[in-house]
Amino acid sequence: MSKQEGGRDSFTNKFGVIAAAAGSAIGLGNIWRFPYVAGENGGGAFLLLYLLFILAIGVPVMLSELLIGRKAQLNIFGAFRKLAPGSYWPLVGMMGVGAAFMILSFYAVVAGWTLEYTFYAIGNQFAGESPEGIKAIFDELTTASWRPVVFMLLFMALSAFIVRSGVQKGIERYTKILMPLLLVILLGLIFRSLSLDGAMAGVDFLFRPDFSKVDTNTILEALGQAFFSLSLGMGVMATYGSYIKKKESLGKTAISVSLTDTFIAILAGLAIFPAVFSFGLEPGQGPGLVFITLPGIFNQMAGGYYFAIFFFVLLVIAALTSSISLLEVVVAYFVEELKMKRSTATWLAAGVMSALGVVCALNGAVFDFFDRTSSNILLPLGGLLIVLFVGWFLGKQVVRDELEADGRAAFYFRLFVPVIRVLAPIAIALVFLNGLGLLRF
Ligand code: PHE
Repeated sequence: MSKQEGGRDSFTNKFGVIAAAAGSAIGLGNIWRFPYVAGENGGGAFLLLYLLFILAIGVPVMLSELLIGRKAQLNIFGAFRKLAPGSYWPLVGMMGVGAAFMILSFYAVVAGWTLEYTFYAIGNQFAGESPEGIKAIFDELTTASWRPVVFMLLFMALSAFIVRSGVQKGIERYTKILMPLLLVILLGLIFRSLSLDGAMAGVDFLFRPDFSKVDTNTILEALGQAFFSLSLGMGVMATYGSYIKKKESLGKTAISVSLTDTFIAILAGLAIFPAVFSFGLEPGQGPGLVFITLPGIFNQMAGGYYFAIFFFVLLVIAALTSSISLLEVVVAYFVEELKMKRSTATWLAAGVMSALGVVCALNGAVFDFFDRTSSNILLPLGGLLIVLFVGWFLGKQVVRDELEADGRAAFYFRLFVPVIRVLAPIAIALVFLNGLGLLRF
């Protein structure tokens, strides 16, 4: 970590920036949420829509967010206040802070399951279990009254602990080494999954688009998943952008982070679906999908015992690098706008999120409501307002100067402007109208 001109902390170098932003993006969204939502929405056609949304909407929104943050050097609320004084724009920042509360509440529950799975793996409790047996363990784990709560709280405390001591130090140190390791284990899983009997049905499911399965909901879910997985629409990338030095290229950061994140999601799908079909499981069974499928693959692997432990530990860490980014949005806001001490801000935010998390852990309907509403509505709406702000309000020259602050010409500028002014807003609006049933296609 080093100090920036204004005395604000910043990431030490380009790798630090990308690692932190990728650390936020890569998480349970890729490994848990992508397979379960893709499974519910017919596989291949969903994947295609998801990829399209990442490129046409996700990358431009990410660039816009990074730009807002770095230009303003403030939290998401403060950034709008500074760049658009006396306007209603800061409300977009408020919405982001609200979304952070909502997301971390259910995210910590899933991370808690992951944490508990780590202990199960160490105790070798999945060994020899059939898929039905594993499902029974999962159902018991998620409905037992106190355990999901305890593990959720444990995870929240871990996140708060890291955020309290400053995000940059925490994130930079962990992500650099651990994310590549996660990739290696994922490759091992894919290898085993693909060699199971009947695995090809899963590959088909993921890569062969069946458009008869596409309905209004599929389109909205694909957009929501793109936003969720890239950590967009609620200020994470703006907050991290405020820690990026002027000499770094925002364009490169946005592209590398988006591509890496998407790559990991596809790998996760490639690890999960062949096994789902081989074990005769139902791809559309919901949030438990990955938790029921993975132990089955480990059971079939040479050295599966060790792989499983490694994998779940890494998944907890991947979840942590995402949860701290969510918490940081709120903490940066509390510290800079409400003038709280960093530690007070952290414990207050984590305390409120924990209370909401208890509700999510005990009530599946609330969990589901938080999960869908944040991804499918709040994040795309935030993204829509963010691109409109950068496209129409900030002024072309301001945008260009910020993109070129690293001293290099932003060759993509000519493309970027029409995309954030017109294409991305219209695309998001159409998906919304379609989702509300006001427009059918
Ligand atoms: N992108 C994170 C993941 O994939 C989740 C997240 C969503 C983080 C929104 C921050 C903001 O796990």
